[in-house]
Amino acid sequence: MHYKIAVMPGDGTGPEVVAEGLKVLKAAAAEAGFTVEFTPYDFGGERYLRTGETLPDWAIEEFKEHDAVFLGAMGHPGVAPGILEQGVLLKARFALDQYINLRPVRLIPGVETPIKNKGPKEIDYCVIRENSGGMYTGMGGNSRPGTTDEVAIQEMVYTYDQVARCLRYAFAYTRRHGRKARGVGPDNTLALIGKSNVLTHMYRLWNRVFAEIGDQEFPDIKREYYHVDATCLYMVASPEMFDVMVVENMFGDIVTDLGAITQGGLGVAAGGNINPEGVSMFEPIGGTAPQWTGKNAINPLAAIGAVQMMMEHLGETHAAALIEKGIAYAVTRMKSMAAGEMGMGTDAVGDLVAGFVAKG
Ligand code: IPM
Ligand code: MN
Repeated sequence: MHYKIAVMPGDGTGPEVVAEGLKVLKAAAAEAGFTVEFTPYDFGGERYLRTGETLPDWAIEEFKEHDAVFLGAMGHPGVAPGILEQGVLLKARFALDQYINLRPVRLIPGVETPIKNKGPKEIDYCVIRENSGGMYTGMGGNSRPGTTDEVAIQEMVYTYDQVARCLRYAFAYTRRHGRKARGVGPDNTLALIGKSNVLTHMYRLWNRVFAEIGDQEFPDIKREYYHVDATCLYMVASPEMFDVMVVENMFGDIVTDLGAITQGGLGVAAGGNINPEGVSMFEPIGGTAPQWTGKNAINPLAAIGAVQMMMEHLGETHAAALIEKGIAYAVTRMKSMAAGEMGMGTDAVGDLVAGFVAKG
């Protein structure tokens, strides 16, 4: 196989962690017997300040000619907040219709979690966040802005089809990756997360489609429902309750950050923006960390984890498994997952994983 990967390192520490991700990807390709070709794109803060351009339509068209996109981080101290996030990250998600945000919450043995008395056995689930709708569609507006009569409206919007495609993906994912599928539990369980006690219109739709698709197409999958507020509590108090959860966009944004800190923080958390029928984009979720930029001190494991997810998505399961083991090995050699406290440089962490992968 030959893969074409679009690479968008972005701002801050993005380029440093992406470099380590690519190092590991090259090692995995050599070992697993496929080839990769990278197309670099310099979208991000510097380019925006130079040209006013965020992510032009021609680049979206070029991304479509690739097998995947690898994104570092977006955000620049000289650019107003929101411009790059919306102009690059959200634009790519929407234009490529990456309607699933896949966020594994898995504590790697040896990584510290802030949750007392919980370990890798308990913190081991996956959040499937709807990535194309809800409040992120931007429907609404402001009337009489700037006055004391101002009215602001931002609607949570979903269509049947949006809900159905997300839930169908979530059920299928649970069948493939749930606890039963992995041999670590009796059931494959999908939990719908919502707020049906208040957002009655919205969850009338989600609950109906959840039950319909579950009954008709996935009767083997055990179904649960939790309110999003209670979910936050359970994610901390009893994370072992969860196998796979599916959640709308805005609530998903919030619970995935909570999940990230329970799995050891932004140094290790990775995510995939998935279009199962199109081009997907993988990213460390850590952000630009400007205070660590250029210091060779940022943790690249999240970016390397994003590459692992990319390999899984492309069906390169051997490469993905090697990278997963390589990450686990690197963890045993690092002092901490926190930037500046790893006991080694960013590049040395990448070398550890790549070296492990290269040994097969
Ligand atoms: C995330 C981020 C983005 C989001 C921001 C940067 C637009 O927080 O990927 O979770 O809200 O989706
Ligand atoms: Mn977020």
